[in-house]
Amino acid sequence: MTTETHAATGGREGNPLWSSRLTFILAATGSAVGLGNIWKFPYITGENGGGAFVLVYLLCIALIGVPILIAEIYLGRRGRRSPLATMVHLAKQDGRSHNWKWLGIMGMTCAFLILSFYSVIGGWSMVYVGHAFNGAFIDSTPDQIGALFGGMLQSPGNLLFWHTLFILIVLTILAGGIRSGLEKAVNILMPLLFLLLLVMVGYAMSTAEFMTAVEFLFKPDFSRLTTEAVLSALGHAFFTLSLGSCAMMAYGSYLPENVSIPRTAITIAIIDTLVALLAGLAIFPLVFSNGLEASAGPGLIFQSLPLAFGQMPAGLLFATLFFFLLLVAAVTSAISMLEPSIEWLEEKPALNRVKATAIAGAAVWVTGLLTVFSFNQWAELHPLAFLPVFEGKTFFDILDYLTANIMLPLGGLLMVLYTAWCIKPMTVIDELKLKSGTAALLLPVMKFVSPALLLLVFVYNLL
Ligand code: TRP
Repeated sequence: MTTETHAATGGREGNPLWSSRLTFILAATGSAVGLGNIWKFPYITGENGGGAFVLVYLLCIALIGVPILIAEIYLGRRGRRSPLATMVHLAKQDGRSHNWKWLGIMGMTCAFLILSFYSVIGGWSMVYVGHAFNGAFIDSTPDQIGALFGGMLQSPGNLLFWHTLFILIVLTILAGGIRSGLEKAVNILMPLLFLLLLVMVGYAMSTAEFMTAVEFLFKPDFSRLTTEAVLSALGHAFFTLSLGSCAMMAYGSYLPENVSIPRTAITIAIIDTLVALLAGLAIFPLVFSNGLEASAGPGLIFQSLPLAFGQMPAGLLFATLFFFLLLVAAVTSAISMLEPSIEWLEEKPALNRVKATAIAGAAVWVTGLLTVFSFNQWAELHPLAFLPVFEGKTFFDILDYLTANIMLPLGGLLMVLYTAWCIKPMTVIDELKLKSGTAALLLPVMKFVSPALLLLVFVYNLL
């Protein structure tokens, strides 16, 4: 099939495209907005001292995030196939090595592996919706809250149950396919998420320390900016936009031809950033008003926040809302992590959408067991301890490290390199419908700036 007829037919039989630009934006922001925004962004901002870190993070989103997001969605739309088949197809079309298929294979695997542990953490948010609703936080002490968290991790049966339920929710949405599954879900879940977040910020505004939080987030104090903070801002820009794992490529493969990718990518990045900042504005006033530590680390929302919820008026309601919001954000991200694998399986003649979903789902559920047991039975098991980087790391730690620190940056680097160096510049300009000004800006950034910065994080992380 030629490119023209391919594009005109949408590339595959019977597989529809997103129904509009807006739906794509909802789905892609659904992917981008997740535990990264609500759980991770606040705690790493807290650990890295606030304002200056936020500023660097914003720069990273603009200079690395947006160009790679454009590249990834563009590759997906150009291929209109699963990430693996897309890379094979494009490499052939552009006269490049067949080995580019490894980019598709690595991305697909990476998203799959991320889901295997993301789902367990998604399960935590379900457990916490339950705790919140049952009033478990009301007037409790730090020790009690700590015991709640520890108790949850100690029980493999419990973790397994919620991991299973989380996967089942994700599969139910995915089995419906693009139009009746993903679109319907994001159309409801994303507006709900914004609404809940605004309610939370509204409450935070009424607390005594709201302005302290605003200053903490937006008044840069460069004396608190370390090299490590810069690099962690860079890495997070990546994770939060769901870049480098072919999830956005898979979503891009359903993107209608007439939608402007650069404009859409910028919109997604703005919404994702806005949600992270709103999450900060919802969380830090509670942290400061209750005299909690901003730099509490990964436990910030699971251990510090419940304390705040336990003290505030209508805390039961706000706590339930908050953890439900976290769950919604996690679900819409999780579906994007399995889409590349499902899209790939669906290309096998013997498999339809439902069968492909079931197979991918079963596989990711089993892989998730590694994470479930990492917190209890296998907490002392360090399977790759013979390699220095993996010393003292459980299965969960290894999966997290391998995906976030190695596979994502490498995937993103390869995507932007392919787009900028392996496709004819005129083709890129043409297909992205770039005006000459935009092209003069975007192409050099894709060719040099983003890869150089990325290489920096990558090498640093490996050292
Ligand atoms: N961006 C999501 C978050 O912030 C996580 C996510 C979804 C993701 N899809 C991804 C991360 C693909 C890496 C790769 O929580």
